[in-house]
Amino acid sequence: MTSFDRSLFEGRVVAVTGAGRGIGAAVSAAFLACGARVIAHAGRGLEHAEVDLLPRLSPGERDRLTLLTADFSKPGAGRSLGETIAAECGGRLDVLVNNAGTMGGRFPADEISAAEFDRVIDLNIRSVVELTTALIPALRAAQGAAIVSTSSISATTGGSAGSSLYSASKAFVSTWTRALARELAPDAIRVNAVSPGTIMTDFHRRYSSQEKLDKTADSIPLKRLGTAEDCAPAYLFLASSALSAYVTGQILEINGGQFMG
Ligand SMILES: NC(=O)c1ccc[n+]([C@@H]2O[C@H](COP(=O)([O-])OP(=O)(O)OC[C@H]3O[C@@H](n4cnc5c(N)ncnc54)[C@H](OP(=O)(O)O)[C@@H]3O)[C@@H](O)[C@H]2O)c1
Repeated sequence: MTSFDRSLFEGRVVAVTGAGRGIGAAVSAAFLACGARVIAHAGRGLEHAEVDLLPRLSPGERDRLTLLTADFSKPGAGRSLGETIAAECGGRLDVLVNNAGTMGGRFPADEISAAEFDRVIDLNIRSVVELTTALIPALRAAQGAAIVSTSSISATTGGSAGSSLYSASKAFVSTWTRALARELAPDAIRVNAVSPGTIMTDFHRRYSSQEKLDKTADSIPLKRLGTAEDCAPAYLFLASSALSAYVTGQILEINGGQFMG
């Protein structure tokens, strides 16, 4: 992150969910490198943050990091985390990154159970809406705040076999982003999303075979899978009013040319 201006987010407070590993860890480290104070939802526990996030931070960056945990499969967890973050930031939040999410497994369309439906919707939709709703007063108070959510390439393409619920839940995130951008524009809150393609994190280590990943890499114009570090600058760009003051309601695709729509 040395190529970024260390004063880009100096004095700004940024909340990131799903920050303990993968894309969220890279995004949190990038905001810290750019001078932000980061309130990070590590995940359901702290164990991934201890391995994936903390070791890449300098002592000064660690001093600007607050780690929280919450399990978004529990009803009301998003709202309750929002209340905690609002108290932590003193009622003024500059940037909210809604990033926590996952597929929860590959479910053939004729075998989707009520429990699987709830698990995907509670995490990828309900928690995002609850958390954002709880934090809108704090974002308004910042006067020029930004929300950046994590959608997915599958929101547009429909994803691969067994990912219908996940893909549709990410389409919700994209559409909700555009709707909120219009609604919150009078409050000077910009709302955008980053849409990653195939990014090598624990997500694909869990849900995709090496053979499938090799085939995907070969089909990508840039001839490789993405990394969490490939994604992080897009979040900084959309969060910074110095870089994207006139950008709202957009879904920024980060996928090596995998999808051009
Ligand atoms: N990797 C890709 O190719 C890709 C592509 C498109 C979109 N995305 C999206 O990018 C975001 C980050 O994914 P990633 O690739 O970085 O995956 P990851 O490494 O698996 O990280 C997922 C994050 O979400 C958190 N999370 C999962 N279930 C949770 C729950 N029930 N309650 C609270 N937190 C929970 C995880 O916490 P725990 O450590 O507790 O599990 C973790 O911090 C997700 O929204 C994902 O859908 C990823």
